[in-house]
Amino acid sequence: MSGGPSLLQQRQKKEGTTLDIRLKKINKIYREGDIVAGVVVIETHGVSGEVQHQGVTLTMEGLVTLQLSAKSVGLFEAFYNSLKPITLVNNSLEVAKPGKFPGGKTEIPFEFPLKPKGNKTLYETYHGVFVNIQYTLKVDMKRSLLSKDLQKQVEFLLEYKSEADTEKTKISPLPFTIAPETLTNVKEKQNVPQFKVKGRFDSSSLKITNPLTGHLTVEQCEAPIKSIEIQLVRVETCGCAEGYAKDATEIQNIQVADGDVCRGLSIPIYMIFPRLFTCPTLSTNNFKVEFEINIVIVFLDDHLVTENFPIKLTRY
Ligand SMILES: *[C@@H]1O[C@H](CO)[C@@H](O)[C@H](O)[C@H]1NC(C)=O
Ligand SMILES: *[C@@H]1O[C@H](CO)[C@@H](O)[C@H](O)[C@H]1NC(C)=O
Repeated sequence: MSGGPSLLQQRQKKEGTTLDIRLKKINKIYREGDIVAGVVVIETHGVSGEVQHQGVTLTMEGLVTLQLSAKSVGLFEAFYNSLKPITLVNNSLEVAKPGKFPGGKTEIPFEFPLKPKGNKTLYETYHGVFVNIQYTLKVDMKRSLLSKDLQKQVEFLLEYKSEADTEKTKISPLPFTIAPETLTNVKEKQNVPQFKVKGRFDSSSLKITNPLTGHLTVEQCEAPIKSIEIQLVRVETCGCAEGYAKDATEIQNIQVADGDVCRGLSIPIYMIFPRLFTCPTLSTNNFKVEFEINIVIVFLDDHLVTENFPIKLTRY
């Protein structure tokens, strides 16, 4: 058989009208006050001719959604209201009045200013577990009673526009020593082998576009080491004055040493912050998004020790 379209593809193609949004900016990154420009594309497929419609509308929305972890739900019922979604942007724009589009492809250009609702602060885009900050552009085509309304949504990303929106990075080197006596999260210290790991992070305050860098050295360790790992952790807090729920979850884990590393050898630390899953450290009345680094040392018998370091992410 030749590589022509399958029956299913043919059938989907025949199916009437499609709606799409194409943004002019390929990276889809915008700042407060920017014009979000693009085209709404209406396309009819197959035999169908012109498209009747009851108006085409674009809606720009920015929303913070907060969710409780299973362990916090009971705790929170009393003040559930404080967890309602927070609307940061809510604007609409009519791109076509009720009428007809011709058969084939129609492109309607639009320019939509990105403005906050009231005096709201536009926080940076962030995809988390319990906190989500998302900006979307949605196009709706209303149809007559006999045809289904059409809708399409795209996400765009928001970044702070200037230093005034956020704290500036202050380089602050963070030297560390990890040894049995420094561990605060171990109950039975007698089970931990004697060891000493020294090192430093070049800064605990970082521009989100820069990597986390530093180095560590295993100066001494009586047990064989299996692995040394650097974990990036998000700490999300939902709540308010009446109480809050705080949850830490892992974003990514990077192995910096594999096997029983040479004692006295300096091992570099290098970690890039994944966009979407990180944002400048954020603290508001209703929620917080903070980040931490764990250094994890795994011994050959799979015992592990962890040391935790809060870091601060900034945009500028
Ligand atoms: C968003 O705007 C629409 C129309 O302007 C309004 O009906 C709706 O209530 C608004 N939603 C929020 C959450 O502000
Ligand atoms: C924002 O506006 C609301 C009411 O619209 C007001 O209560 C609040 O104090 C204002 N916040 C700031 C920071 O101006």
